[in-house]
Amino acid sequence: MSDGERTGGRATILSVRPLTFTDLPQVIAIERRSFPSPWSLSMFVLELSKPSGISLVASEAGRILGYIVCARYDEAFHVMDIAVDPDHRRRGVGSMLLAGLIQRAGEDASYTLEARISNAGAIALYERYGFRGVGTRPRYYADNGEDALIMWRALGTPWETP
Ligand SMILES: CC(C)(COP(=O)(O)OP(=O)(O)OC[C@H]1O[C@@H](n2cnc3c(N)ncnc32)[C@H](O)[C@@H]1OP(=O)(O)O)[C@@H](O)C(=O)NCCC(=O)NCCS
Repeated sequence: MSDGERTGGRATILSVRPLTFTDLPQVIAIERRSFPSPWSLSMFVLELSKPSGISLVASEAGRILGYIVCARYDEAFHVMDIAVDPDHRRRGVGSMLLAGLIQRAGEDASYTLEARISNAGAIALYERYGFRGVGTRPRYYADNGEDALIMWRALGTPWETP
């Protein structure tokens, strides 16, 4: 089985691979169905152009089901964006993307991200991968003034393979 492939008990194979520019039309379609203030094409292009970043897609039979965009800063990898096609959530796709990121960036690296305080599903996913809330950024989200929960993943946290 190649890197990241899982059958998950289904006939088709989910695989995780690097996100490329040609994936962006499908990625943006998922982005628009997932967020009230979706990223623009230029925001994805900017992140993809950074050589130190790690961006991945999960695909099945050539169709993209989800993606993760992660930037590398001095002290940590910063998860900037993650979303899964609404029709394919709770199948472990988000888990595979996070696991793929940690496999590539390294178990001993530091990771951080922000999540809307109300986004209990995403927070539960992150907690499964060792992230813990360490504080908030008040009124971080311009569209509704919602606070962000700042999460960090402690070094060497055990995590489960999806
Ligand atoms: C958050 C998101 C990426 C999760 O993707 P996913 O593929 O559905 O996640 P998984 O199937 O790997 O879920 C793994 C675990 O995370 C938790 N989880 C995920 N979504 C959840 C939800 N909506 N409610 C409660 N728990 C949830 C569960 O513990 C789940 O395990 P289980 O299904 O065995 O109970 C997806 O819901 C999404 O794209 N949301 C919209 C965009 C978004 O909010 N991105 C995060 C921004 S911070």
